[in-house]
Amino acid sequence: MKVFVAIFLTMTLFATVYYADSEIPSLKEVFSSYFKIGVALPVRVFSNSLDVQLITKHFNSMTAENEMKPESILRRGADGKIFCDFTMADRYIRFAQQHGFVVRGHTLVWHSQTPDWFFRDDSGNLLSREAMIERMKEYIHTVVGHFKGRVYAWDVVNEAVDSNQPDGMRRSLWYQIIGPDYLELAFKFAHEADPEALLFYNDYNEFEPRKRDIIYNMVKDLKEKGVPIHGIGMQQHLSLARSIEQIEQAIALFATIPDIVIEITELDVDIYRDNVTKYQTAPTELLHEQAEFYRKLFQVYKKYSHVIDNVTFWGLKDDYSWLRGFPVRRNNWPLLFDENYQPKPAFWAIVDLQT
Ligand code: G3I
Repeated sequence: MKVFVAIFLTMTLFATVYYADSEIPSLKEVFSSYFKIGVALPVRVFSNSLDVQLITKHFNSMTAENEMKPESILRRGADGKIFCDFTMADRYIRFAQQHGFVVRGHTLVWHSQTPDWFFRDDSGNLLSREAMIERMKEYIHTVVGHFKGRVYAWDVVNEAVDSNQPDGMRRSLWYQIIGPDYLELAFKFAHEADPEALLFYNDYNEFEPRKRDIIYNMVKDLKEKGVPIHGIGMQQHLSLARSIEQIEQAIALFATIPDIVIEITELDVDIYRDNVTKYQTAPTELLHEQAEFYRKLFQVYKKYSHVIDNVTFWGLKDDYSWLRGFPVRRNNWPLLFDENYQPKPAFWAIVDLQT
């Protein structure tokens, strides 16, 4: 009996997905004259045919959600020797080549998801500035070199800004050991390893006026100094409480930097406005509010499509989102597709924009 029920449920899901897949417009086609449409993926999706079907229908750019971060690539042998393991990361490249995707590399230099031992010598003491620069150089050369020609854009430095610091710079171990010039060194090393790759500074909450201005001045200064930085990655982890006007102000300001490329690198729209509410099922009125939010957001993205060349969603479907575990464990519905692979009102809101 159980087997029959399982078969029936699987067939129903297949039928539903097939219906969704064959009947609805493809996001990448809808936005083809504006920007690439990307998605962040955990490696497990490659062995799930329903996921693969949805991914290949709607997206043409992909980002590894965790698998290209330093903690996923860096290894240390029994002899203490550091090396890189690309086994998981290479699966993204194989999939991308097979299905005609471009790949965003995320990320090289970050305070988070980087092993603590990477910053230390064999005795556990922090490295000297010179040794840290050498280690950074070797890591970036190895990783960017490995993916040369196969990763078109890198988030070279991630989340280096802290607007609560007097100079606006996060006091990460990178900053503490090397000093503020670690950013320009990282971009230089990445450019040496792949001169064709687009190199980004990537951060969140860029709509906050102080943070926005710090990022603007920092990137503008780096460019004026001749540092090989090509663009700003705007993560866009948003919520219904955010102001579209402030988001547009940040995009408009960044767009004034000469020769700048903007990529929306980690888009999602949290339906909660606080950290305590928990819904069992998605309230219909919030899904419609979210659709309206996405509609206005994409109007802005389209308005600036002369500088925005990629809009990447941070997850394939609601139940895969990191927001189901952050800031607290709860149901959340921040993306365009629901748990059952069905397009939500937000999907139709951005697709209908085109007509
Ligand atoms: O690797 C362990 C695994 O061994 C263990 O079994 C599992 C148990 O929960 O945890 C695994 O680690 C998780 C890791 O993702 C890999 O799946 C961590 O718990 C989890 O906290 C971690 O979260 C990721 C987060 O970055 C960490 O900073 C999210 O998936 C990922 O979506 C999120 O992505 C970041 C961007 O890189 C940068 N911008 C913000 C964005 C959202 O936080």
